[in-house]
Amino acid sequence: MNTYRCAVIGNPIAHSQSPALHEQFAREAGISLIYDKILSPLEDFETIVRDFFAKSPDTLPIHCGLNITLPFKVRAYQLAEQHTDHAQHAGAVNTFYLNAKHQLVGDNTDGIGLCRALMQHGYSLKNKRMLLLGAGGAARGALYPLLQAGVRELSLSNRTLSKAQQLIKPYQSQFPITLLTPEDFSTSAPFDFIINATSAGLHDETFTLPTPLIHRQTYCYDMVYGKPTAFLRWAAQHHLPHHDGYSMLVAQARESFARWFGSSSF
Ligand code: ATR
Repeated sequence: MNTYRCAVIGNPIAHSQSPALHEQFAREAGISLIYDKILSPLEDFETIVRDFFAKSPDTLPIHCGLNITLPFKVRAYQLAEQHTDHAQHAGAVNTFYLNAKHQLVGDNTDGIGLCRALMQHGYSLKNKRMLLLGAGGAARGALYPLLQAGVRELSLSNRTLSKAQQLIKPYQSQFPITLLTPEDFSTSAPFDFIINATSAGLHDETFTLPTPLIHRQTYCYDMVYGKPTAFLRWAAQHHLPHHDGYSMLVAQARESFARWFGSSSF
């Protein structure tokens, strides 16, 4: 049986749960996998990636995939020789593998992981009204997969309006996407989903949204995991169904695993 080697590369990296997740997927699939954490000095990222994939395909273990985490996802995009559709839209890469021509393919499974996680929680996005909070890297990664999932309307809201305007521009002619400004809050119809893609929760600040934006079943999802963010506390106070981003973490990892080993248990 072949042994494969994959790794997650970032800085910092000690906290990463990717090894445990991928080792679990490998056990389930009966694949022999070594999955490491690589702490990359900021200046060495590209060299480390190139060296990883330069290992001869004949030597064991077979070096087949990398996951990329902060702060290297945009540099990973620049390094890739070929981009998947999802990476293209996200402008960032979280998964690397080689194609048949030995070119470095950059993919992004974050947004599709979010959609899968919402489905696993029992929610269909089709024809739903969604509010996406944020216009940074996390929001950008989620936007295209959410639009593709068939939402009726996606409103984007961000503290800095110009960033939100810039983000929705390429999609406006093709998808039902709009900007939601604080002035619109009192007149907007309620949303079925509110997804928090801001990093505000990491700083433990307070969060509030006017109640006309929610109904009794508005589902709230925070991409941050591992702590009850102000957004999730607000959702709980209003008795709204909610989850943190752990399910997205697992689902994006599963998608990466499927890219490398072609097995998906979805
Ligand atoms: P990430 O890659 O995690 O998305 P980012 O690119 O720095 O990180 O983006 C952070 C997002 O969180 C942005 O949308 C940011 O809003 P601005 O564009 O106005 O900066 C948002 N954000 C961060 N702190 C926030 C806060 N305290 N309140 C509201 N939004 C906040």
